[in-house]
Amino acid sequence: MNTPAETSPSTSADPAVPNPAASGSAGSGPDLADPRFWQLPAAVRSAAFAELRRRPAPAYFGERATGRGFHALVRHADVVEASRTPAVFLSGPGVTTPEPARWVRVLFGDSMVNLDAPRHAQLRRIVSQAFTPRLLGRVEEDVHRIATALVDEVERSRPEDFVGAVAAQLPFQVICTMMGIPEEPRRAILALVDRSSADIGVARPRRRLRVPGRGLAALARMQGIVAGIGRERRRRPAEDLISALVTADVDGRRLTGRELGAFFTLLLVAGVETTRNALSHGLHLLTAHPEQRALLLGDLDGRLDGAVDEIVRHSTPIIQFRRTLAMDHELGGPGGPLLRAGEKVALYYGSANRDETVFPDPDAFDITRSPNPHLGFGGGGPHYCLGAHLARQEMAVLLRELYTRLPAVRSVGEPDLVPSSFDHRIRSLRFTF
Ligand code: HEM
Repeated sequence: MNTPAETSPSTSADPAVPNPAASGSAGSGPDLADPRFWQLPAAVRSAAFAELRRRPAPAYFGERATGRGFHALVRHADVVEASRTPAVFLSGPGVTTPEPARWVRVLFGDSMVNLDAPRHAQLRRIVSQAFTPRLLGRVEEDVHRIATALVDEVERSRPEDFVGAVAAQLPFQVICTMMGIPEEPRRAILALVDRSSADIGVARPRRRLRVPGRGLAALARMQGIVAGIGRERRRRPAEDLISALVTADVDGRRLTGRELGAFFTLLLVAGVETTRNALSHGLHLLTAHPEQRALLLGDLDGRLDGAVDEIVRHSTPIIQFRRTLAMDHELGGPGGPLLRAGEKVALYYGSANRDETVFPDPDAFDITRSPNPHLGFGGGGPHYCLGAHLARQEMAVLLRELYTRLPAVRSVGEPDLVPSSFDHRIRSLRFTF
């Protein structure tokens, strides 16, 4: 376990050594590198981040597991700066914690979140073709159809868990439909996704933050299924995302089978888990704040989009991603805290979304908040969430369907949260209508 007292000593040869210029070393305050921090009640963590935002420079946290550490970017402006200065703040060495091992990247292909220009731009151009307004327009019909069928099923079978029955189903079915995954392997793929992400979080205190190992076999099987479909579509293209990806010719390039598998895995992790958590937090927030729910139901057309963005701001499904400094950089401009080449920074989206200099009364859940420049989908720049439009669409369609057909729908009790430094995950949420 990585306790404050146990954080690894660093040497001056280590580029991740905290440097005096970025002097906000954590001291006796909260330790974001300690898994136990992520098991504290939300209010305690929120107060700790508020305190970190008041410090003059980003605090530094050492990690025992890696022998290195990171500066915590907790303010809105700092997260935006790091996101929009990709030549300085690199994604290449890996944005998750711990970084994916080299052999994993060789075997499974690089995920675009972990790439920098020019390869990132090239890959993003290829996959962006699948997110054009024309294709997304077609997807909207699918989103409606799937959401309607899910609410039909809720009425019929009265399930108890909102996450499993509704929130996880919608984004998963939408992505499978977009990709053109036939019905038959979907159940197997969903089980593999569950298995591959089973170790995320810090539910068991003696575990490291993220342990991808056990999920790798599941990942390999999942990618095998998708690569097989890709080969088939290259021979006989259909009107779907996999066909577009394996036949697209951008800068003389198209996706290889391995890249296709890596992209599908990214979509499942980035697009399914996040949206499922946002939807679950949404139902719970609207239950816990009856006045906001009344506002929403009073003018669904006028307030739904605002509600969706406020749910994403308030719940911030992805807590943080990392960047690595390509060169020395003064944060905020000349004279600002010096971050040195080779050091890592963690971009705390949740903290940026509670920055009191940007959001008045930041802890309040207010669906009429305007403007709402939250960073739930990232701080802008080349890695900004590719699925932001789709996620908003899925959330709006499902909430409309639910509150129109089952106006009494509400969560029951507290959500079963998975403590994690990476995603704001809800394992299950009881509900009734
Ligand atoms: C509420 C739901 C979602 C949230 C909160 C979310 C959040 C994020 C965040 C924070 C990033 C990193 C941005 C950065 O580094 O600047 C990201 C990247 C990404 N997201 Fe989402 N996301 C959501 C839904 C989706 C969906 C539905 C899809 C696709 C179907 C998707 C696909 C991606 C991809 C492919 C990337 C990597 C983009 C790149 O590296 O160029 N996301 N998302």
